[in-house]
Amino acid sequence: MVCVAARVRTARLRVPAGYRPYSAHDKHSHGEQAHQPIIPETVVPATSSTSLPPLSAESRAFLARLIRVDQAGELAADLIYSGQHAVLKRTMPSIEPLIKHMWEQEVHHHATFDHLQTRHRIRPSFLTPLWKVAAYGLGVGTAAMGKEAAMACTEAVETVIGAHYNNQLRTLAGMLEQEATVAGGHVSPELQKLAQTVSQFRDDELEHLDTAVQNDAAGARPYWLLTETIKGGCRAAVWVAERV
Ligand SMILES: [Fe+2]
Ligand SMILES: [Fe+2]
Repeated sequence: MVCVAARVRTARLRVPAGYRPYSAHDKHSHGEQAHQPIIPETVVPATSSTSLPPLSAESRAFLARLIRVDQAGELAADLIYSGQHAVLKRTMPSIEPLIKHMWEQEVHHHATFDHLQTRHRIRPSFLTPLWKVAAYGLGVGTAAMGKEAAMACTEAVETVIGAHYNNQLRTLAGMLEQEATVAGGHVSPELQKLAQTVSQFRDDELEHLDTAVQNDAAGARPYWLLTETIKGGCRAAVWVAERV
């Protein structure tokens, strides 16, 4: 548990220094995590009268990968919690509200990236059917092993996804800074909003991680094998979904 908490703190510290929090974040705030900063204080969203330089091909490719992999990941998270909820509402009704709360947040994340995917015409991962089956199976399977295994699954998944979102935030912050530098402090509202969305979802995922640790994820047997296997699977899925 100490090890996990240390990793969470490390993940939160990965946000670039010198940024202010997203005010709209309060809608989905979670204590101290609501104040994770991301947008440079000096940047101003561009208006219609402000001309911004076009994004480079490299930046456009990054954003396409971001939306593709995050849509696939949030779809998978939605289905993991759906599978866990289907089992645990019968075998452990006392924990059903907790699972439902996390599931509802994942439904919101999933719907948001579905919208972004459609809006920006980003093709979904070709392996979407596989992600669906694997995610629902992971949710049902770990819940069938018991509450602790379900929480260990959440701990493993959210550890990987929290770090994944932090990696994306670093790149997005760099893109915003670059835009602001060449456009006199102005940035694309669309890019700024995307960074805010990723930042908010990162906070939600880390809240899920905290919830799992607090609800005896470490009591799963075999804890190490289960969590490391799931983490490895998640990292592999992220790598593949960005590309395929
Ligand atoms: Fe999520
Ligand atoms: Fe999550």
